[in-house]
Amino acid sequence: MPSRRTHPDVERVLISEARIHRRVAELAREVTHAYLNTELSVVGVLNGSIVFLGELLHRLPMPTRLDSVVASSYRAGTVSRGPVEIYRDFRLPLRGRHVLVVDDILDTGKTLSLICKHIRQHRPASLRTCVLLDKPARRLVPFQADFVGFKIPDAFVVGYGLDFAERYRNLPCIAVLKPQLYPHPR
Ligand code: XMP
Repeated sequence: MPSRRTHPDVERVLISEARIHRRVAELAREVTHAYLNTELSVVGVLNGSIVFLGELLHRLPMPTRLDSVVASSYRAGTVSRGPVEIYRDFRLPLRGRHVLVVDDILDTGKTLSLICKHIRQHRPASLRTCVLLDKPARRLVPFQADFVGFKIPDAFVVGYGLDFAERYRNLPCIAVLKPQLYPHPR
């Protein structure tokens, strides 16, 4: 069985497991500093954020409520097609709450701008976003996250929760797959 660390489909590791853990610990400190003495409502964008969300959450010391939304994914492709949809909405009331939306990656900006617009209609006391990865070169909708783990170049990445056709989420690092595995040229 191939090791999780040297998966045969990986062309190169972009961000190592050790760098991710160090940066997530720093991000947790930045978030903690921004929300001192505040109860936080964290909304994770599933499925991609699941690993990042778990690691970030357990490092936050303040009282925290957790909810999630499920947005349309790229399915088996590597490019965003058409409008984004919210498949499953959050359940906790967000009115008057300090909300932090957590996602794996900010790419075209369509997903987070839609989710933030939707949450704003529920009148939160504040709304901020936290992403592990940011690909500014691919933005189609103007959007800036408040907390960013790493800015990355324009490459389709997998691992640490990010998938290609629902695979590779369990890789411990952020990696680029061998080009022959991707069906569409980018
Ligand atoms: P947008 O384009 O709406 O993208 O900002 C947000 C969602 O698209 C997925 N996404 C990726 N998933 N590797 C992935 O595994 C990537 O390089 C990538 N780029 C975008 C992801 O679900 C994200 O939440």
